[in-house]
Amino acid sequence: MKIGIIGTGYVGLTTGACFASLGNDVICVDNNEEKVRMLKKGHMPIYEPGLEELVKTNVKENRLSFTTSIGDAVKKCEVIFISVNTPPKENGDADLSAVENVSESIARNMTSYRLIVEKSTVPVETGVRVKQTIKANVKKNVEFDVASNPEFLREGSAIYDFLNPDRVVIGVESKRAEKLLRELYKPVSAPIVVTDIRSAEIIKHASNSFLASKISFINLISRICDKVGADVNKVAEGIGLDRRIGKDFLRPGAGFGGFCFPKDLAAFIHIADKLGVDMKMLRAVAEANEDQKDYFLKLIEDNLWNLKNKQVGVLGIAFKPDTDDIRFAPAIDIILKLEREGVKVKAFDPQAMQNAKSVLNGTVYAKDAYDVAKGAEALVILTEWNEFRQLDFKRIKKLMKRPLVIDGRNIYSPEKMRDLGFQYISIGRPAIS
Ligand code: NAD
Ligand code: UGA
Repeated sequence: MKIGIIGTGYVGLTTGACFASLGNDVICVDNNEEKVRMLKKGHMPIYEPGLEELVKTNVKENRLSFTTSIGDAVKKCEVIFISVNTPPKENGDADLSAVENVSESIARNMTSYRLIVEKSTVPVETGVRVKQTIKANVKKNVEFDVASNPEFLREGSAIYDFLNPDRVVIGVESKRAEKLLRELYKPVSAPIVVTDIRSAEIIKHASNSFLASKISFINLISRICDKVGADVNKVAEGIGLDRRIGKDFLRPGAGFGGFCFPKDLAAFIHIADKLGVDMKMLRAVAEANEDQKDYFLKLIEDNLWNLKNKQVGVLGIAFKPDTDDIRFAPAIDIILKLEREGVKVKAFDPQAMQNAKSVLNGTVYAKDAYDVAKGAEALVILTEWNEFRQLDFKRIKKLMKRPLVIDGRNIYSPEKMRDLGFQYISIGRPAIS
């Protein structure tokens, strides 16, 4: 099939490269000229494991191309995915201006039937708006369908998730749209949930909100564990083995981040408010997440005593490992707050430092974890990159001013850290002395 993808970010680029790898002809569009220039030269604008190889292979085999022109894609492709960003406004509402602009441009370039698919995460009833916008701008007698096909991939494992999803959700209003999307997803072995557009839109917001709720829940439990010396990992195992609860997404930490959970929670709460439903539970989920970052800061403060002029080393800035994405990363909030208290922060992240420089300009950037440790009075872990799991802590201890590790991702064994001579503070696990 001939597929157009508008918006070539984490989702659009992955979607484009994966559909191409399944044998489709894909044209990826972005209005960021620099991004398109880079992609045409084979350079990736983002870090996502495996993406560069997949893009290069499919470009070479003439199944994937890049352009800044929506017209090009609309003229050549029957199915057009909208995967532009839907950032939060100050009041939590999703900013859908890019979705509207793109819908207008698609409509103006349509000369025969097109299926326009919402891939971006959008509030319920956006489909109605997209349809109205296209109707208002399309030439008379040109037929079209709008559909919703929310994306559930995670950054860091985007390609695997795209090609091996737990389910594919298709929200449609016509048999023709259903047939096209079923055909497109035929090579992907997953249950297909076919529904109306509104239900598909709600499935996406509800999924992310439910997952975020699990994390805030275990984070709250971790604080109880801290109070009484219980072990949150054991509690998570004990509850997670109940299949009705499930063991995933019960890892406590210094709060969740990323361009998805925080903004989608806010957008879901906002649209529900508009519809007259007070999502009290989700407000609490978001609030607990903010509290969790402050709780972690308090752990640092309690253990360092006075913060002013203390040197603290931070390992990890990205909102999760295997990505360079720092959007709503807990590390950004935590570092900014520490710096506001006069702490001198030296940080290292394997992929996210370039992005971090635009928001953390008082931070010193290190060349590796050992450089971070040099002279530090505390080593703070904020992203669980695999390479941080295998550090030489004997060497680290020699480099630090004080052997104190405060772990916001629970990646080390408390016993091992004690044996290595560290004071080791983690989340919801008893300190071992
Ligand atoms: P992103 O910011 O990485 O990419 C969006 C791209 O759209 C950018 O390259 C931007 O230049 C382009 N764009 C914006 N306006 C445009 C326009 N008018 N014309 C052409 N291109 C335009 O965002 P993302 O992380 O890929 O997210 C996209 C959507 O997918 C969001 O709604 C997000 O919530 C959703 N989503 C994201 C993920 C994820 O893991 N990042 C997963 C599932 C769903
Ligand atoms: C999340 C969802 O997992 C995807 O299904 C969804 O498609 C995507 O949002 C989206 O809608 O954009 P992503 O944000 O890439 O994916 O990453 P996750 O692995 O879900 O992690 C999100 C945040 O939660 C990270 O900060 C992570 O550290 C935190 N987290 C995750 C925890 O603190 N504990 C956990 O047990 C799991």
